[in-house]
Amino acid sequence: MLPSVLPTETDHVPVLAEEVVANLDPCPGETVVDGTFGAGGHATLLAQRLRREGKLIAVDRDPTVAPFFERFRRETGVKARLHHGEFSAVLGQLASNGVRADVILLDLGVSSMQIDRPDRGFSYAVDAPLDMRMDPAATYSARELVNDSSERDLADIFKRYGEERYARQIARAIARRRQERPFERTGELVEVVKAAIPAPARFGEGHPAKRVFQALRIEVNDELGALERALPAALEMLRPGGRLGVISFHSLEDRIVKQFLRRQEQGCTCPPDFPVCVCGSEPALRATPRRAIRPSAAEVARNPRAQSARLRVGTKV
Ligand SMILES: C[S@@+](CC[C@H](N)C(=O)[O-])C[C@H]1O[C@@H](n2cnc3c(N)ncnc32)[C@H](O)[C@@H]1O
Repeated sequence: MLPSVLPTETDHVPVLAEEVVANLDPCPGETVVDGTFGAGGHATLLAQRLRREGKLIAVDRDPTVAPFFERFRRETGVKARLHHGEFSAVLGQLASNGVRADVILLDLGVSSMQIDRPDRGFSYAVDAPLDMRMDPAATYSARELVNDSSERDLADIFKRYGEERYARQIARAIARRRQERPFERTGELVEVVKAAIPAPARFGEGHPAKRVFQALRIEVNDELGALERALPAALEMLRPGGRLGVISFHSLEDRIVKQFLRRQEQGCTCPPDFPVCVCGSEPALRATPRRAIRPSAAEVARNPRAQSARLRVGTKV
């Protein structure tokens, strides 16, 4: 078990904070689910709207958020509980237990606390064990992924989740290097990535290992699979009129959310050439607003991490 991190002044800064509160619009007495509790930044803002009359259900697969949850409970005074687990599993369980919610928020990806803690192995900036598990009890880490995957699978992962131009060259260099000895540390991986890409690209946009690290993190934590499974569970949990908000940081995540909203808006799943509807499915959600909400220039200037954030909201019909 990892030692706890104590809440500080420099915790994770919640992105699109005003937009989240305005569009999810929690009201006194309602039940809010924060599926990605982190440092509790969004949860605190949402809970303030409940005015101690509602309930907040927090979920996070990282057990080190516990001290942040205790602080949240102390400071907001709202009725709250924390579930440790992967949000798709927890939402599915809560839904089948008949728990219902008015607001559900998923703020995807890693938190600043996870990135800033070298022992978690998320950062290419510090040498640390190659790990990247959001849940330190999970069995599969970046170490296994890098050492055991085929060269081809690694290249696919770098290309798909990292949009890495030199995916094949990097995968080949990794496969060659691990024949000598397995990768154990982030620093070793950074060195191999740097050496595998052409010199001019090493000094291009951002750190040369940034995209590879992002891709490994997404794969290790099955981030897209978790999102795909969570959306129907969230829909089932929502009461009519309930609001689902998802903040994504990657085009693949945003596409999953956008397509889910579109399918749920359409309702009918009959093939387009059917003259009349035979499936009988009704629209279940409305995208409110229709388009993704992006951060303002002022927010990006304050918090560059917000740059790629997109918030989509659906209201249950
Ligand atoms: C971007 S941070 C959330 C920050 C939070 N909104 C705040 O304002 O402090 C994402 C958090 O969600 C958690 N997380 C990511 N994917 C998850 C999943 N599939 N199930 C449960 N927790 C997840 C991470 O462990 C991390 O703590």
